[in-house]
Amino acid sequence: MAFTLKVNGKSTSVDVPPDMPLLWVLRDTLDLKGTKYGCGISLCGACTVHLAGKAVRSCQVPVSKVGNAEVTTIEGLSPDGSHPLQQAWQEVDVPQCGYCQAGQIMSAAALLAKTPKPTDADIDTAMSGNLCRCATYLRIRKAIHKAAGTAVTETARANPPSANQ
Ligand code: FES
Ligand code: FES
Repeated sequence: MAFTLKVNGKSTSVDVPPDMPLLWVLRDTLDLKGTKYGCGISLCGACTVHLAGKAVRSCQVPVSKVGNAEVTTIEGLSPDGSHPLQQAWQEVDVPQCGYCQAGQIMSAAALLAKTPKPTDADIDTAMSGNLCRCATYLRIRKAIHKAAGTAVTETARANPPSANQ
């Protein structure tokens, strides 16, 4: 079935089954491999993209439900990697293996769009659904503060409830 999607500012047509998750369309049909598959059941956040500006788990969104909503992936966050979060991520040297990081940045970008000056609690709440098996949580929080220009709390623990699952 044919669908016209708006992805990263461009209109694009895909011919896929209506129940195909947006994640597969992005990765396998549109070759946008920055968005990752982790669990496939909405538990890890590796597949996070923006749909109409909101962070969503693309493994859980059938392509037939996307409609005219703008889809933004990590490739579309900024054309040249100059988004403040991407710069902060590099400055803080956040990633370890890197697998979860696109999803982390997309969740963080949705947070800053809504809450430009987040507190530690805001960050922990917004990021709690994004797991990192390498436990980069403290660096993630530091980079979000850096991008937001807010104070870094070095001693507080960023320990989302789901981090120990
Ligand atoms: S792959 Fe979508 S939440 Fe894990
Ligand atoms: S950096 Fe390895 S899973 Fe997050």
